[in-house]
Amino acid sequence: MRLLKKDINKFNEYGYLIIKNFLKKKEIKGIFNQMDDMINIPIKKLSKKKFKTFDEKYLFLLRKNKILKSHFYDLTKLLEGIVNLAVSKKFVNIGKKLLKSNTILVDTPQVRADHKSDKRFLPQHQELNQISKDVINFWVPLVNVNKKGGGIFLRPKSHKLGHLKFKNSNMSATSDSKKRQNTIDKIFSTKKLKKYKSIYPALKAGDAVIFQTFIFHGTTPNKLNRIRWTYISRFNSINKTPYLKNSKSTLRIPYDFDYNKIS
Ligand SMILES: [Fe+2]
Repeated sequence: MRLLKKDINKFNEYGYLIIKNFLKKKEIKGIFNQMDDMINIPIKKLSKKKFKTFDEKYLFLLRKNKILKSHFYDLTKLLEGIVNLAVSKKFVNIGKKLLKSNTILVDTPQVRADHKSDKRFLPQHQELNQISKDVINFWVPLVNVNKKGGGIFLRPKSHKLGHLKFKNSNMSATSDSKKRQNTIDKIFSTKKLKKYKSIYPALKAGDAVIFQTFIFHGTTPNKLNRIRWTYISRFNSINKTPYLKNSKSTLRIPYDFDYNKIS
C-alpha cells in the first residue's frame, strides 16, 4: 500500500487520515482465530459449554473469572499474528512515509475490547507519554462503528495547536476525573478554538484511522451488544526522542513535560 502525495498533504493538514479497507477480511479473521485459540484455554478450564461466538466466550470469561480474562487480554498483545501485523509492510511503509524516515520505532500493538456493560469513555486527549514527540497512531476497528453505537471522535486540525496545557493535562485522560471531556469541550468552545469541531467517522471493520500525536481524539462508549474490538498500533520517530539525547530522560516522555520544547 502506497500513500499518495495528496494523502500525505491531507494528513499534515487535518492531522489524520482514513484508509478504507486497510485490513482485509482475511487479516481480521486471522486476528480473531488466534484470539479464539488462546481464549479456549481458560474457557475449557471453566466450562464444557459450547459457545457460538468469540464474543460469548469473552463475556463468559469476564463474568466467571475477571483475573483470567485480564491474563488473556494481556497476552493478546503478544500473539504472533498481532505483532506481525504491526510490522507488516503496509503498516511500516505508511509509518516511514509519514515520519519521513527509513528508521522508525515500533511500539507494542494491542487489541482493545469495549463492551456494553463497561461503558468506558476515553475523553479526548493528545497522544502523550510516548517515546518521541512524533508519533503515528493506527486505530483500526475490527467491527463496524458509527456515532450512534460509539467509536472514535477527533478534532481535525487541532494538532496544529501543538502541546496544549490545561487543568490536569499533566496526567493521562484515564487517570483524570470524569470531568476531563468537559474541560476539553470548554477549551474548544472559546471563540479562538471553536472551529476545531469533533467529527465521529463511521467506519467499516478494517478501515484505518491514522493520526498524529497532537490531534485531540478519544472514544465514546460502546452502546451496541457486540463487543467493539479495535486494533491499535504505533510508530515513533527516532527523532525528537529525549531518551536518545539526555541521560536523565525516561523512555516515555512524562505527561508533565513541555512537549513544545522537544526538538
Ligand atoms: Fe489516544
